[in-house]
Amino acid sequence: AETLKGRSLLTWLDYSAEEIRYFLDLSHRVKQEKKRGENRQRFTGKTIALLFEKRSTRTRCAFETAFGEEGGHPVFLSTQDIQLGAKESVEDTARVLGRMFDAIQFRGFSQKTAETLAEHGGVPVYNGLTDSYHPTQALADLMTLEENFGTGPGKKLVFAGDGRNNVARSLLVISAKMGINCTIITPAELHPDAELMASCREIAAGTGAELTITADLGAAAGADAVYTDVWVSMGEESERERRISLLKPYQVNQALMDRTGRKDSIFLHCLPAVKGEEVTADVIDGPQSRAWDQAENRKHTIKAIMLATMGL
Ligand code: CP
Ligand code: NVA
Repeated sequence: AETLKGRSLLTWLDYSAEEIRYFLDLSHRVKQEKKRGENRQRFTGKTIALLFEKRSTRTRCAFETAFGEEGGHPVFLSTQDIQLGAKESVEDTARVLGRMFDAIQFRGFSQKTAETLAEHGGVPVYNGLTDSYHPTQALADLMTLEENFGTGPGKKLVFAGDGRNNVARSLLVISAKMGINCTIITPAELHPDAELMASCREIAAGTGAELTITADLGAAAGADAVYTDVWVSMGEESERERRISLLKPYQVNQALMDRTGRKDSIFLHCLPAVKGEEVTADVIDGPQSRAWDQAENRKHTIKAIMLATMGL
């Protein structure tokens, strides 16, 4: 864990498989501690700035409760309230926050903002979602997959939906790193970009992960988990009509779940969900869904990320 102290989490591309394994093991551990009712108070005397340009339920609550219940003091800062973006540069904001806080979480539009905060803050910066990546989500997704299917090799994760969004991109990266076979079922118009695919394929060549991008729903065969996300991500509202018409055939419904050919396959969703669009209510609220465990796991994984990178 020595290599993790002081590090920012902007994308999983910066981390090794061993380091990601460490975060996962710690996540399972802190979840068990919590279930046993242990209260460790490891963040006593620490502060974190939670910067939000976009809305959030899970990410904000995961950071606030994980940090607060162990004695830390989280400070929620929406960009409606602070100078960032209006009267002060990202660079100067980073310098000031870095003098007052032990860590910074950023959720917003540009990956560049997260990078600039990390470059000038001098404290760990956590990407709580940008247009490009959602790395803390991907760790909770793997944790949930492991709770159901263990840590062994050869797992198959299928994401059906918008292949270009932050969630799909982070799943590709973490799957490539961890040797998980990841299939993105998406129309040609929404294929992940070539640059990301080149990086992921290079990583996958070293870990044996099979990465598949296809428009064929039949590629769900054999999946351990079928994952989807909203068709219209935050900031893309003007593309709504086009996205719905492109993505309609990729709705996760019982017929698609059945194409896994497995009774024990699970359904995942990062949430929030639009029931009736990307997923039907019977699937997300049905017996195969692990979306609610997955939401809870945001808290345990975020706690693990903060503990390891703050050196606690
Ligand atoms: N999954 C997720 O990031 O949810 P929020 O947008 O509510 O934080
Ligand atoms: N892709 C979604 C994820 C929300 C957690 C968005 O960016 O809005």
